[in-house]
Amino acid sequence: MKMALERLHDPVLENDWHAVYLASELKDQPAGVIILGERVAIYRSSKGVHAMQDLCVHRGAMLSRGWVKNDILVCPYHGWQYDSSGQCVCIPAQPQGERIPPRAKAMTYACEEKYGFIWVCLGEPSGPIPHFEEFANPEYHPIPCGPYKVQAAGTRVIENFTDFAHLMFVHQDLLGHPDYAELPDYEVIKEADRIYIENIPIFQPVAHSGSDKKEGTTYVYRKEIYRPLSGRLTKADPSNGQALWIMLTVLPVAAEECVVFMLVSRNYAYDVDDANFKHFQDIVFDQDAKVIETQKPELLPLDLQVELNHRVDRFSIAYRRYLRELGVVVGTI
Ligand code: FES
Ligand SMILES: [Fe+2]
Repeated sequence: MKMALERLHDPVLENDWHAVYLASELKDQPAGVIILGERVAIYRSSKGVHAMQDLCVHRGAMLSRGWVKNDILVCPYHGWQYDSSGQCVCIPAQPQGERIPPRAKAMTYACEEKYGFIWVCLGEPSGPIPHFEEFANPEYHPIPCGPYKVQAAGTRVIENFTDFAHLMFVHQDLLGHPDYAELPDYEVIKEADRIYIENIPIFQPVAHSGSDKKEGTTYVYRKEIYRPLSGRLTKADPSNGQALWIMLTVLPVAAEECVVFMLVSRNYAYDVDDANFKHFQDIVFDQDAKVIETQKPELLPLDLQVELNHRVDRFSIAYRRYLRELGVVVGTI
């Protein structure tokens, strides 16, 4: 059954960049994605990547079901052709030489390729896509992971990212162990455009691929939220200088549905197959998703009285405050 899409309005998220697709998967054919309930067609031309509303002004067919010919997006219904500015440049059924109605235009969106993802902003980008050297520099083997579809609000996924106390249970024997569940004291640092915590030691029973720690190791975490639906972390092993970096960014599809993209990079073990790191992330994120999809209320309560917020949750509490201050409405109550 075809579900009606509800277009969600949220000035903060509309003016934000969202990873929407793996760049390696966008080849000659256009693709369709959904951002905040809006259908968006993306495609690649000789000039780069482009995004426009996935709706032909003629009869509303999906442009993403069409094809690209000489850098022009062709609607699959009656073959109208749109250039990258969204202007219709050919109506095949119209007598040659006749003027194309100026209203024959598709709405376009800002679109960029970075970190192996295609990024789209529905409104006016509030800033550039942030540059992080650990994910941009190919020397660190950045590996795109996902996309992972989740039937939950993107805010719930990011809150899970800020949460340490679940590592020993949801990811038991992978990222933590119940015998080492007690968390150290920590403080949340707030800057103009980010919140972060650092120097959090967590014992991990099985160290990451490429580590020689057979009995597990204690990783020291730094976690940062730098946009409402984006964060990054560092896991460092001080005993050998090995560091693993993860970026997490969530595409809000609907209020209670999202798609998660991740990047994993590292400063060691370049001889180990990158697929190991991706496989690990697939397992870990599946464990997260299974719990996140059960949470109620589905939307993240920004009123701190609604759920039982414990002192150990202070990074999650800071995240809720950050969303409130920014004025994020989608995925929150
Ligand atoms: S609906 Fe697109 S060309 Fe007619
Ligand atoms: Fe997790």
